[in-house]
Amino acid sequence: MPYAHIRGWGKYVPPNVVTNDDLARKINTTDEWIRTRTGIAERRIAGEGETAVTMGIQAAREALQMADVDPAEVDLVIAATATPDRIFPATACMIQDAIGAQGGAFDLSAGCSGFIYALSVAAKMIEAGQVRRALVVGTEALSHITDWSDRTTCVLFGDGAGAFYLEADEEPGGLLAFELGSDGSGGHLLTGPIVGNSYTPAVAPELSRQYLVMHGRAVYRFATRVMGQAAEKALRRAGLSVEDIDLFIPHQANLRIIESAAKHLKLPMEKVYVNIHRYGNTSAASIPVACCEAVEEGRLNPNDTVVMVGFGAGLTWAAAVAQWPKEVGRRARSKPRAARSWLRNQRARLLSMRHRLGHQVDELLEAGLNLSRSKEEAQEQ
Ligand code: UT7
Repeated sequence: MPYAHIRGWGKYVPPNVVTNDDLARKINTTDEWIRTRTGIAERRIAGEGETAVTMGIQAAREALQMADVDPAEVDLVIAATATPDRIFPATACMIQDAIGAQGGAFDLSAGCSGFIYALSVAAKMIEAGQVRRALVVGTEALSHITDWSDRTTCVLFGDGAGAFYLEADEEPGGLLAFELGSDGSGGHLLTGPIVGNSYTPAVAPELSRQYLVMHGRAVYRFATRVMGQAAEKALRRAGLSVEDIDLFIPHQANLRIIESAAKHLKLPMEKVYVNIHRYGNTSAASIPVACCEAVEEGRLNPNDTVVMVGFGAGLTWAAAVAQWPKEVGRRARSKPRAARSWLRNQRARLLSMRHRLGHQVDELLEAGLNLSRSKEEAQEQ
């Protein structure tokens, strides 16, 4: 049976930084309140033209460049997102086209747990032998569904994207175990915009038609309950225990929630990765972005046992236990590799143009055929 190994990772965060003081100039809040209640100091907000798709493409390209893999060989793209550019086509299909991948592509909606859910689906498809190379992207443009006058939510969220590239390998290791959970009875506690009518009520019915709304305190209680438990269950499934954890990478929603999970697990904070101060809550992007930065900062090292845990809308929760790869990433930014990646990106652009042209030619031919048919019919009458 093949094992699913992480072979590349990448991230993208918009350059536009919005600090707590920037928000305090517009709404009734303070830097002090936001820092002490959440741990957030600033967040990145998508600029003109930046969307879940564009950010996801950047993160995906970085992950593929690190693995030095030809995107044409990627046979699965899953995008975890709560903020797709459109309900359909899927964000994953847009990413597949832009990077030049060939296989299946679909979106997965599991709120802030989405990345771990998507990782588990991709890993299991690799283990089952259905695909050999998969790209999992967590990408969010939460600013697009934020009510910027609602101080209970707008200070919390940010935009960004992260991606893992996975590959089948006969060597044991890689993604070792998962634990997924859900409780739809709490769905109304954290909701996104409505399409038409909604079965699910929401905490702020008027706002909730268009925006993200949340009962923060209830979600907080739920998160502190499930995070530690999910991590323990996944560890048990992997045949490991808390003592085996080299680094714990929790979903970055609130520093107090993270500390409470660490306390539940009796893990010292030195083994917990936190970057919420820089980005706020980026939902499905938060865990892969945190992994990338943990590597950059030397906190996540080859062969480390890493536990990632998410929770969020649904309500959902998910944990993954992984062995970080031994040798990936060292030459990721070498010039030849960057050049190969550039050439592959150009080929993907040309391929996409060729396919789009094909669609247009089909339309023209169809229109021409229809025209000649109607002329023929007119002559016959
Ligand atoms: O990824 C999953 C999704 N989200 C989460 O995980 C978030 C989970 N929840 C939380 O992180 C916390 O519940 C929050 C950070 C959202 C709120 O912290 P809290 O300690 O639970 O505060 P609270 O909601 O109980 O509000 C306390 C007070 C209220 O005022 P009163 O009623 O006590 O007078 C709020 O109106 O703080 C007020 N408040 C604010 N004050 C200044 C709420 N938002 C703000 C704000 N600035 N931005």
